[in-house]
Amino acid sequence: MSAPSKTERPAVAQHVAIIMDGNGRWARRQGLPRAEGHRRGVLALKDIVKAAKVRQIKYLTVYAFSTENWRRPQAEVDVLMDLLVEFINSEVSELKSEGVRLDAIGHIEELPARCQEKLAEGMAATRMGRNLVLTLALNYGARREIVDAARALADAVRSGQIETQEITDAVFSAHLSTKDLPDPDLIIRPSGEWRLSNFLLWQAAYAEMYSTEVLWPDFDEKELDLALDAFAQRDRRYGAISRTDQTS
Ligand code: IPE
Ligand code: IPE
Ligand code: MG
Repeated sequence: MSAPSKTERPAVAQHVAIIMDGNGRWARRQGLPRAEGHRRGVLALKDIVKAAKVRQIKYLTVYAFSTENWRRPQAEVDVLMDLLVEFINSEVSELKSEGVRLDAIGHIEELPARCQEKLAEGMAATRMGRNLVLTLALNYGARREIVDAARALADAVRSGQIETQEITDAVFSAHLSTKDLPDPDLIIRPSGEWRLSNFLLWQAAYAEMYSTEVLWPDFDEKELDLALDAFAQRDRRYGAISRTDQTS
């Protein structure tokens, strides 16, 4: 049997995750306040959500606020929280009509009440969306997520619901906030950084990484296509050997 040809690979990644980084540097380069960079970052997100849907990406997960981002000045944190509310206000009807389901991961219950209410409203309004799941990672940190899962499993063992030996990769995954999402195929980080900054550490085990110098506010459809093209060229071996080597 001959090895499958490259053209048999899925043309698009099913789950794309983006670390939306570089808003502050974008603003500094334009001589604008950081808040303006964040505003432009939201515009970029709106365009990328539409572009992802058109490209038949099924899951788009975006890192919007990390558990470490509370270390920023309060005024900047406030701007980011306000932008979340504005994003949902301005987009919810379009997300709904486009069949995009809004979801969130992270400790949402620690966000300001206005954000929690808006998120609940946005998620309820879009719950029937079947084309794309847009997951906002908010007050999200992967280490905390893994610790939460470990605690839940320890409690389950202690109360006799599960045996230690029954804890497998799949069981562990099912205790993460991403339990309803497949692992990301592609993780994109704009602004030239090559680090995960506590994003999806468990889920990224076999994700393809893509970094570009372009700052998030300048990241557009064309940049998304460059990332998807790079993804399509990757040989995902998952520890095995290349499919083209399997007959030799
Ligand atoms: C990403 O842009 C937005 C958030 C982290 C919320 P940054 O604000 O981190 O931008 P840089 O890294 O300072 O350029
Ligand atoms: C990662 O960006 C978090 C988000 C984009 C929300 P950061 O700007 O916070 O990451 P570091 O500090 O450069 O690692
Ligand atoms: Mg940054």
